[in-house]
Amino acid sequence: MPDHQLIVVGGGLAGLRAAIEAQEEGVDVAILSQVHPGRSHSGAAQGGVNAALANNPDGHDDSPEKHAFDTIKGSDYLADQPAALQMTTDAVPAIYQMEHWGCPFSRYDDGRISQRPFGGAGYPRTCYGADKTGHYLLHTLVEQTYRRQIRQYIEWFVCRLIVDDGICRGVIAYNMTKGGFEEFRAEGVIMATGGAGRTFAKTTNSMISTGGGAAMAYHAGVPLKDMEFVQFHPTGLYTTHILMTEGCRGEGGYLLNKDGERFMARYAPKAMELAPRDITARSIQTEIIEGRGIDGKDYVYLDLRHLGAEKLADRLPGTRDLAIHFEGVDPVYEPIPIAPAQHYSMGGIDTDVDGRTLMPGLYAAGECGCVTVHGANRLGGNSLLETIVFGRRAGAAAARDILGRERPLGPVKSGGEAGAAVESTIAELAAREGSEDFYAIREEMREAMFAHFGLFRDEATMKAGVDILLDLKQRLKKAKLRYTGSVWNLDMIRTMEFEGMVDVALATASGALVRTESRGSHARTDYTARDDERWLRHTLAYYQPDGGPPRLEYEPVELGLYEPQERKY
Ligand code: FUM
Repeated sequence: MPDHQLIVVGGGLAGLRAAIEAQEEGVDVAILSQVHPGRSHSGAAQGGVNAALANNPDGHDDSPEKHAFDTIKGSDYLADQPAALQMTTDAVPAIYQMEHWGCPFSRYDDGRISQRPFGGAGYPRTCYGADKTGHYLLHTLVEQTYRRQIRQYIEWFVCRLIVDDGICRGVIAYNMTKGGFEEFRAEGVIMATGGAGRTFAKTTNSMISTGGGAAMAYHAGVPLKDMEFVQFHPTGLYTTHILMTEGCRGEGGYLLNKDGERFMARYAPKAMELAPRDITARSIQTEIIEGRGIDGKDYVYLDLRHLGAEKLADRLPGTRDLAIHFEGVDPVYEPIPIAPAQHYSMGGIDTDVDGRTLMPGLYAAGECGCVTVHGANRLGGNSLLETIVFGRRAGAAAARDILGRERPLGPVKSGGEAGAAVESTIAELAAREGSEDFYAIREEMREAMFAHFGLFRDEATMKAGVDILLDLKQRLKKAKLRYTGSVWNLDMIRTMEFEGMVDVALATASGALVRTESRGSHARTDYTARDDERWLRHTLAYYQPDGGPPRLEYEPVELGLYEPQERKY
């Protein structure tokens, strides 16, 4: 039974940043990750990270308040306003900290960090490292954890929380390389497991973005917040859904329909291709639905040809490589076929600005959490920011609690039985007489989520989607493990993971069905207007162990800075 004071689940940006902060406060911290931290999904983020540094000549009078305003307006006023301002205020020192740790940002000739325009932003405030910003930030933090000799358990799959007397006291994890389950007892646990993109077909997310951390907290009784708000990135590569960064449009790229028209003029005449993602993605989808996709098909073009080979090599080299290798198109000479793809979960484990959840000892940061700063629609560049700002804050808060400075957590009991309980659950799975193909069920769920809870929603389609999910949950009981070996049993991992995925999907679906308005990414064709009177509030979904849909509760949005207005771009 490995013991540490604090366990961080997930080795992406939020997890690494949390671990560094907790260790600096004097806590013995360990990271558990199912992949090497350098291969976490944070590394797939491309275009940049927002902070009001005011380095760009067009953004000299930028400020954290202006950044907060853009974030809140972008959120369709569902963000908690003090939390958004906290993030944008912390943003500036957070970026300089990453710079001092050696992150290779792109720079202006005078040496300051370069900033490009991004969607929904009044100023060019997105700091970047070409189009590999997530990769650079991630490797900077990996280095810092090595430098501090933070203990890392790599290729360990965390499957359950240990909860004693209502306090989170560690996790149970499967040792992928050696086999077997072990308890990691700790005074506190930080979930930093990323989003739930893989609950949808057509996603930019990695295989490991399955909502696992959110599911574990949810099953343990912690509510998920605002799960119905799902971001579809406007520009997924047509065939594989790989991200074509918003940086392409920040650098001046065009969106074209079959007539060669820059159709964004119809939907966002001022912002054009740099409207927020919800509006841009719906505009593309509308072009497709109305028959103006390329050759009448379900994609449009992202055109970068006019930027020229030199600019592409300087600012968007990874984009060019991805388009060549995964779509067979060289953006220097040809437009890139793109279509919207699921990209980000605005909802997640309900937390405060210090990552604390309703369960003492359990914290969350990054995409698996919901602070909430993104509300109904996240701005591009605020996701990387969220990881380093709220990762740091969660690590600091957990350390303060563990060290007895703020909300002492008390002594940890010795364990022993929790791991054995999981072993017997797995034995039951292996012994089951099943007629269902688990992998088929999983794909059916992903297709259903994209078809029934996609860019445009309506009551009948969503009701049918909820029924499909409930049916899949029943069918899952008849699926058995194909492989029962103890080492690298991916079949077992995927099965355990799916039990969480389907519940997270059901939380998304149930929240969406009940919310009778259109706000941000939640666009209903049967309720097309935003309804502040009824729906300027957050959804909290509580797991129901009887297998049915979650119990939904609501709480008010924290306002106080900016009055909700109609969004125009
Ligand atoms: O388009 C992008 O580069 C993605 C950025 C983000 O999701 O914040």
